[in-house]
Amino acid sequence: MQDIVIRKAKPKDSRAFLKLVRELAKFERLKPPSESGKRRLVQDTFRTKRLKLLLAFSGRVPLAYALYFFTYSSFLAKPTLYLEDLFVLETYRGQGIGSRMFEMLIREARRLHCGRIEWAVLTWNSKAIKFYEGIGAHQLKEWHYYRLDESRISKLARKGI
Ligand code: ACO
Repeated sequence: MQDIVIRKAKPKDSRAFLKLVRELAKFERLKPPSESGKRRLVQDTFRTKRLKLLLAFSGRVPLAYALYFFTYSSFLAKPTLYLEDLFVLETYRGQGIGSRMFEMLIREARRLHCGRIEWAVLTWNSKAIKFYEGIGAHQLKEWHYYRLDESRISKLARKGI
């Protein structure tokens, strides 16, 4: 196998990025982004730079990505690196690529003085859970994860609470 290169994504990587996002959605049995969603993903990654993206390549073949952004902890008074997606194509798993990507995230978190790195993982994804626990991450048992979806937001915006 050729050497694996992991680097920050460039606008010319947009198609590769979207293909990997679709693969992760398939893996997670979730709906992939719509056509307009794909345009927003590319815009928010490369134009507004709201999202940060690492890609891994074997030669010219894109095979993994990590997508992240920053939130903030008021109590720590430090930013949190929030990992939205981490994905390695199936044939390349178990070869240390996910670990190398995570090491880059760790260096980024240190560089930007983050107090935490956080993410969510589906309850059935035992292999990823093993991977995360293997690097010393712990599940937040004392917190519940909440969400208002877009339809609920518009309803509340129209009608109030
Ligand atoms: N295949 C093989 N090993 C795995 C796998 C897998 N599918 N998943 C986790 N591991 C374990 C291995 O046991 C290994 O431990 P070891 O070193 O003691 O043998 C450890 O993870 C490290 O292995 P890496 O080779 O660095 O991990 P990999 O490159 O496979 O990346 C990842 C791990 C990202 C979980 C990858 O397997 C993957 O993309 N899985 C499918 C998508 C997924 O679950 N993504 C995470 C969703 S949560 C989120 O996105 C925030």
